[in-house]
Amino acid sequence: MKDLRSAELAGKVVAVRVDLNVPTDDDGAMTDDTRMLAALPTLEYVAAAGARVLVLAHFKRPEGRPDPAMSLEVLAQPLAERLGRRVEFVEDCVGAAVAAALERVAPGEVVLAENVRFHAGETANDPDFVRELAASADVFVNDAFGTTHRAHASVAGMAGALPAYPGFLLQTEIEMLAGKLADPQRPLVAVVGGAKVSTKLGVLWNLLGRVDSLLLGGGMANTFLMAQGHDMGSSLVETDLLDDAREILRLAKEQGVEIVLPEDGVMAPDLADDMPVETHPATRVPDGWSMLDIGPESAARFAGYLERAGTIVWNGPMGMAERAAFAAGTRALAEAVGRSEAFTIVGGGDSVAALKALGLLDAVDHVSTGGGASLEVLEGKTLPGIAALG
Ligand code: 3PG
Repeated sequence: MKDLRSAELAGKVVAVRVDLNVPTDDDGAMTDDTRMLAALPTLEYVAAAGARVLVLAHFKRPEGRPDPAMSLEVLAQPLAERLGRRVEFVEDCVGAAVAAALERVAPGEVVLAENVRFHAGETANDPDFVRELAASADVFVNDAFGTTHRAHASVAGMAGALPAYPGFLLQTEIEMLAGKLADPQRPLVAVVGGAKVSTKLGVLWNLLGRVDSLLLGGGMANTFLMAQGHDMGSSLVETDLLDDAREILRLAKEQGVEIVLPEDGVMAPDLADDMPVETHPATRVPDGWSMLDIGPESAARFAGYLERAGTIVWNGPMGMAERAAFAAGTRALAEAVGRSEAFTIVGGGDSVAALKALGLLDAVDHVSTGGGASLEVLEGKTLPGIAALG
């Protein structure tokens, strides 16, 4: 990939695609600024180089037409505060309004364009819409790692229309997620959790060829336990994926990769507030009960693997962590990741939230800003926004 530091930016209009798809509360106020903070180094670099910065971003999923509830205007002030530069919001991302705003601002200042997804051409990667977007700028920078798995106009299309560079966040994410997987300090231990195997199947197949140990937690572990022949009671099991689970277990054995499943679990008969909650061996789920978190023995065993690891990749919770009764496994995992001397890479909202709640985010070497995008990198895919950069 080209290097942004080699680009001539002074006096130019530089369109920078960032991911400002931050979580908000019911009043639309930003509740977590991680993604905004991650976009700052590239924006600051481009502004300091003497360019007028046109910030392109999407916000939620407005389906190709304007929706005031999904306007990016609410983020203009928070962005200006964090950047320490003037940010002018403009009510469209193409056309005369953008051109006029770019005329008004001085080099080093920023124009935040309205949600690119207010135009149907964005998600369709419509060439006419790409031309309209590109008409406002001289140079394009893609720093929207969290959106780079989308072949959209402002992500992939723009890279073919203007001299294009990756931003610093995009570069770091790829170096961390793909680079460390390709050339890790061993042993490389991956911990994969989350409710369903179906959302992580591609990740598991790709990791299988790379890791030394694969620790599986969360609801997805149930499917593997059942594939080994255990009765999982009423636990969430994806029965249509039992064959895939068996094949993954078989291949792992063949390749000398250790797959570690929970040996005990926190279980309940249902999710009512006053339900009984008990810990049992994972292979002995009481009739009609569900396994909803890994148990303390599993958490301790997983922690042992993390202690001996050279590189750790963690994606997904160990149980239904949004419920206090089933959050201990994810919390224990976060503590073990935080303690580890290994190079640690964490992705996925729930894993990051667990680390944040424990004040352990700074103990991790790389926290990915991507949800779907980081999973696709872990699946070994080349993301469309990256392929377009050439
Ligand atoms: C995200 O929030 O994961 C990215 O901003 C992509 O959003 P999308 O899933 O709506 O394309």
